[in-house]
Order: sequence, then C-alpha cells, then structure tokens
Amino acid sequence: MLDKDEFRSALSQFATGVTVITTLDDEGQPHSMTANAFSSICLDPPTIMVCIGHNTNTNGFLKKTQRFGVNILTQDQQELGAYFAKKVEDRTGGVDYRYSVGEDQVPALDGSMVFFGCEVLGTHDYGDHTIYVGMVKEMRRDEPSAPLMFYNSRWYNPAAD
Ligand SMILES: Cc1cc2nc3c(=O)[nH]c(=O)nc-3n(C[C@H](O)[C@H](O)[C@H](O)COP(=O)(O)O)c2cc1C
Repeated sequence: MLDKDEFRSALSQFATGVTVITTLDDEGQPHSMTANAFSSICLDPPTIMVCIGHNTNTNGFLKKTQRFGVNILTQDQQELGAYFAKKVEDRTGGVDYRYSVGEDQVPALDGSMVFFGCEVLGTHDYGDHTIYVGMVKEMRRDEPSAPLMFYNSRWYNPAAD
C-alpha cells in the first residue's frame, strides 16, 4: 500500500497553473472554487476536464446546472485563488472581484487570463471525486500575463523563486 502522506507529497511535485471553477448556486448566484485538477482533453471536439471533490459545494451545484466556467488565474489573482479555496463560511474580508455573465449564464471571473464556458458532457465518479468532462462552448482571453502557479503545496512564482 502507498503511504497517503508520501503520495500527496509526491503529487505536490507536479507544478500546475491555478483555475477558479465558476457555476451558479441553488439561488442562481455565482459560486466559485479554486481548482488545479484541470486538463485539456481534445482540440476537436474542444473538451477539457476538471476533478471536483464530493465534499465541495461546487460538486452539488455542477450536478444541477450541468454548466461551469474555468477561469485561468494570473499572478495578480493569488489573493482570489486563496479566497476561493476557503470554505464559504470563512470567505470573509475585503477581497474584490467581479463576474461577467457568459453564454448559458455561466459566470466569468473578471481579470482572469482565460475563461472557458463549458457544458458537462459526461462524468466519472472515482473515490471521493468526480471527473467532469466539459465541452467548451465559449472562450474569452485577456492580455497574456504571468500565470498563477502552485507547486510543493505553495503558490509558486518561477521568476521570483
Ligand atoms: C491550489 C488549490 C487547488 C485546488 N484544487 C482543487 C481541485 O482541483 N479539486 C477540488 O475538489 N478541490 C480543490 N481545491 C480545494 C477547494 O478549492 C476547496 O475545497 C474549496 O473550499 C471548495 O469550495 P466549495 O465547497 O464552496 O465548492 C484546491 C485548493 C487549492 C488551494
């Protein structure tokens, strides 16, 4: 058997970008969570995947809405990445952010480098996570900027570290 802590530590050696997954909650209001378990699948058809924990609010909302946004964060959005990784009840303090409404009412987080508006094509439950395969229906891009990264369980800036 693999030691769980060792496994987590080994996985943390994979440097990733950071996204915020957006969808609508049960009241139709935007809801966000930070996620780095994101990957492209195919260019044709344009598909991506995200892996969402069963203990998140986002998982419950996605099951209902069948729509989500993937917002790729910039270095300037580190505070937002940390904010949307907190439990909802701990999301306090003056963090400034705004949404625009994408097609299909999917919220797009302003200031993100890239926004993909997706429709759920399929899911696969495994253990305590669900893999969501998303068909990309809409794409928005901002000016290219330094990406926010996560490595070794920390925010990571290769230019500064
Ligand atoms: C850098 C980073 C990456 C994360 N990636 C994921 C992820 O890919 N999937 C996931 O389920 N949770 C991930 N999380 C944890 C969620 O952001 C966290 O559980 C959040 O509170 C869920 O919000 P919600 O319950 O309101 O949906 C990540 C956290 C951090 C800091």
